[in-house]
Amino acid sequence: MSIPAFPILIVDDEKNMRISLQDLLEGEGYKVKAVESAEGALELLNHQRFFLGIFDGQLGGISGYELLARVRQQWPDMLVMMITAYATPSLAVEAIKAGAKDYLSKPYAPEQLLHAVADCARMFQLTEENASLKAKSAEDYSIHRIVGDSPKIKELRRLIQVIAPSHATVLILGESGTGKELIAGAVHALSSRKDKPYVRINCAAIPENLLESELFGHEKGAFTGAIRQKLGRVEEADGGTIFLDEIGDMSRPLQAKLLRFLENGTFTRVGSNEELKVNVRLIAATNRDIIKAIQENEFREDLFHRLNVMQLTPPPLRGRGSDILQLAEYFLAHFAASLNRSIKGFSPAAKQQLMAHHWPGNVRELRNAVERAAILEPGSEVQTQSLPDFQVEAQLRRSSNMVAAADKSLDETLAQFERDLIQNALETSGDSLTRTSERLKITRHALRYRMQRLGISGGQELGDEGSSNQSDNIPG
Ligand SMILES: Nc1ncnc2c1ncn2[C@@H]1O[C@H](COP(=O)(O)OP(=O)(O)OP(=O)(O)O)[C@@H](O)[C@H]1O
Ligand SMILES: [Mg+2]
Repeated sequence: MSIPAFPILIVDDEKNMRISLQDLLEGEGYKVKAVESAEGALELLNHQRFFLGIFDGQLGGISGYELLARVRQQWPDMLVMMITAYATPSLAVEAIKAGAKDYLSKPYAPEQLLHAVADCARMFQLTEENASLKAKSAEDYSIHRIVGDSPKIKELRRLIQVIAPSHATVLILGESGTGKELIAGAVHALSSRKDKPYVRINCAAIPENLLESELFGHEKGAFTGAIRQKLGRVEEADGGTIFLDEIGDMSRPLQAKLLRFLENGTFTRVGSNEELKVNVRLIAATNRDIIKAIQENEFREDLFHRLNVMQLTPPPLRGRGSDILQLAEYFLAHFAASLNRSIKGFSPAAKQQLMAHHWPGNVRELRNAVERAAILEPGSEVQTQSLPDFQVEAQLRRSSNMVAAADKSLDETLAQFERDLIQNALETSGDSLTRTSERLKITRHALRYRMQRLGISGGQELGDEGSSNQSDNIPG
């Protein structure tokens, strides 16, 4: 353990006590200030931060106990140890009740004091560390980290801002890598609970039989291996937010318990009958098709409705047009800086390749592709050679489509193929009819006709005018 950067404040009206205490503590490496009165201490406290106060209970003027009360109120981060006179156990108890971390009764051995001070130092450092972690994680989850200016992402950011301040449960549904975790954090960071704990649990990462005790805690001896009582994460999250990631993977029996918890905030630790209650906001996410999971009896419909008070659905990357390039530039700046490389951007061909890719792994896949490019690219601009070979992946997708099509009629298969092709082109063109028709080398009118025939909705005319001179012929 290292010595805290802040000093210790000794308050004692006996000069010899002050000197011997100061010597003892400085000998151990602590920084120390010593004053003879509570008034003097308050004066100092207004200008300087201390990690620990050691106060004598009996002081002339304001007593040590009153000083303790003032410190608890005005400088709650500071720890206090009381030195109580002779055998006055009731005063010692009062001191602890009033918020002192510890007390020593005179006479005490020097080792006793050093031991107690070391405990305080450790506690202070842990609290500081926690506070900085909390500040960091809140910062980590600012809404500004959700990059993209496509209409869908703008709408998503707007919704997050509307939903966050309420206490309602939020369900985030979206494909893998679309930013669900980022969104959950932004909801917490924008809520009134932002300074309270934000507890994350990945339901898929914890073995089924341990998830309940992780969530709700267990009593000593509740099961083999439960050697001591364990508080649940919901208790840790009290007053704050709990994020249950991959909730689609939770077992049905635990879903029932979670439902009860959501209904009234009550739960019992594993191996106990005592009903406990906390105040926690829940955010849940899954990349599973939750409706299908309900139909297949794997997910409780009542729980779904209870979770689904507010829903956020981050869109797949492939339908987000120029967000792809914006995100790519964003990640490139990040990785180039951390690798200390000066790569400025992407070549036109590389941009085209990024825009044309289907991105089944969404933003995560893009992030990985850009990280790889930042490492491989020898020049100052990312060339196609430094990007992954998207062809291999596209072929895989195509051949799996072919297998799926094997038991359908030729017409059906062709229609499905055409539908996929148009939908892909629409998505990679940011839903613009003009750009889609250019990509597919047909007229806009022909595109609209085919979309209608194939039952494809979407496609925006907005901003399309004037960018195309094609004649509008209906194909035969
Ligand atoms: N809009 C965005 N802006 C910036 N970064 C993003 C965005 N969306 C996702 N990311 C980044 O992409 C990566 C994957 O995002 P995240 O982990 O939130 O996905 P997820 O939806 O939780 O995926 P999964 O379902 O696989 O758990 C992270 O590094 C995240 O920071
Ligand atoms: Mg996730």
